[in-house]
Amino acid sequence: MTGKHIILGVSGGIAAYKIATLVRLLIKAGTEVQVVMTPNAKEFITPLTLSTLSRKPVISEFFTRNTGEWHSHVDLGLWADVMVVAPATASTIGKMAHGIADNMLITTYLSAKCPVFVAPAMDLDMMAHPSTTANIALLRSYGCHIIEPATGELASHLVGKGRMEEPENIVKALQDFFATRADLAGKKVLITAGPTHEKIDPVRFIGNYSSGKMGYALAQEAADRGAQVTLVSGPVALSIKHPNVNVVNVESATEMLNACTEHFADSDIAIMCAAVADYAPEECAESKIKREKSKAPTLKLKKNPDIAATLGKNKKRGQILAGFALETDNEIVNATDKIRRKNLDFIVLNSLRDPGAGFRTDTNKITILDAIGKVYPYPLKPKSGVANDIINYIVNIRRIK
Ligand code: CTP
Repeated sequence: MTGKHIILGVSGGIAAYKIATLVRLLIKAGTEVQVVMTPNAKEFITPLTLSTLSRKPVISEFFTRNTGEWHSHVDLGLWADVMVVAPATASTIGKMAHGIADNMLITTYLSAKCPVFVAPAMDLDMMAHPSTTANIALLRSYGCHIIEPATGELASHLVGKGRMEEPENIVKALQDFFATRADLAGKKVLITAGPTHEKIDPVRFIGNYSSGKMGYALAQEAADRGAQVTLVSGPVALSIKHPNVNVVNVESATEMLNACTEHFADSDIAIMCAAVADYAPEECAESKIKREKSKAPTLKLKKNPDIAATLGKNKKRGQILAGFALETDNEIVNATDKIRRKNLDFIVLNSLRDPGAGFRTDTNKITILDAIGKVYPYPLKPKSGVANDIINYIVNIRRIK
């Protein structure tokens, strides 16, 4: 990380006392650190400590009152290679999520063009509150990297999730980020995500519980590592804003197939993460189907195209095609069969029998199976960490190929 410019945003939580260690580690790693503190952060650790360790005056106000000097959050935002907000309190996370620019840390964040890492720290009930989880989800959707808090004893003496990740691990997350940052530069990656909706009539559809979180995490990770990503997304409640990601919104499996066929020939890597409906109604009624008094209607279904298998048939030498398999039983046998049927290079298996894996969760537990029968199990992780593992796997096979 030598020479990298880091803005370290410190907000007012008890974990701020650990920031002295974080600054020291970052300086030791050869980075330049500009500390920006919220007014409350100064109650927990003195600006003198952090400016001494970072070798730069700490910024916490828009102006230095005695000199009249104005601190340009815009210039700071342009200077930085990365911004880290640690500890990020519930209040700071909320302000970042909603653009409430009432202090220097938030204005700097809003001006920053660089990747942003957020290390939340708060009491377990605040961490679990729906407003906090919704705000963290918003930050993720803006492309922020969340350094998940650890579980352990908190300042309140309660035990739970909310401890800011240790400074050593925050530095490690940054080192990993810079190390892998450009390893997909120049590559084109096609990713499908979310469910498909198959229309029954103008107000109803057949769908499934897929949230799109895994596919969006993969798009974020590939784009962060320099790839040009086409994300073909079924209907989800997520958004992604990244200069390297082009989102193509689709609804049905047929629309998804058309979008994928258009982009596949040009792609180096395709990851089929969508939960595509296998069947669609034979016909979509033009008007809303009314409740019948005498009998319930019967839906006639037709088979949807298999997108992965269609791409698999057209796969050229050097292209990598990956699939996902969510199984409930006979996991390895079923997933291995899909590699063969769809001509995949590998498949990412999740089992619904594993707690924390599968649809709608923020975590996943995967096993990668390749076309020659090798099995690579991974531990339960946040979906961003799983995306990192999958992209690392792809980068490694590209090196071997
Ligand atoms: N897939 C696809 N098009 C379909 C169905 C699945 O592209 N019509 C892709 C998925 O995106 C996933 C892989 O194929 O990468 C496996 O999906 P899955 O639903 O598990 O496979 P199916 O072939 O539908 O098998 P089954 O439903 O019998 O388990």
